[in-house]
Amino acid sequence: MSEKRRLHTYGVCETAAKLAQHYGCDTEKARLAALLHDIYRGIPSSTLDYYVRHLGLDEKYLGNANLAHGKIAAATCGREFGVTDSDVINAVSYHTTGRAGMSLLEEIIYVADAIEPGRDYPGVEEIRRAAEEDLDRACLISLAHTIDYVKSEGKYLDQDTIRAREYFTDKLNKKGEQHDK
Ligand SMILES: [Fe+2]
Ligand SMILES: [Fe+2]
Repeated sequence: MSEKRRLHTYGVCETAAKLAQHYGCDTEKARLAALLHDIYRGIPSSTLDYYVRHLGLDEKYLGNANLAHGKIAAATCGREFGVTDSDVINAVSYHTTGRAGMSLLEEIIYVADAIEPGRDYPGVEEIRRAAEEDLDRACLISLAHTIDYVKSEGKYLDQDTIRAREYFTDKLNKKGEQHDK
């Protein structure tokens, strides 16, 4: 793992632990999922493609390291690291896309990945502020940000991300909050 990736991973780990503490989630599970989430990041695309085929993952992950790395980590962390907790495995699996009906732990990893101290991009402070008050709102802002970015780059937008945005929009509407679309 590169130095940059290592620092990112520790940043996600600390941020996830803080969010877990704040929102009443298991901090050890948050740390474990954070440590695992990017273990296949930075691996050559051809190797990731091998894993996608070998593990029988959806072909849409072929040639798409951005989406594949979390799915491969989720599919292998049981055998490689003895992880049996399905919530931890799902948090790793959906850390890039999000999904409708995310658990608290999944939200924590998703948001921690977006706001760890090493992150610096337009809009990150808004997500950081939201994360202090309402994790659902932080997820929604980050999802909207991702959708805008992926569309502007003309890249493949996963349906899980679109469904996640609908889910959080509905959830926040039900909570009676104002939010950006
Ligand atoms: Fe990742
Ligand atoms: Fe990450």
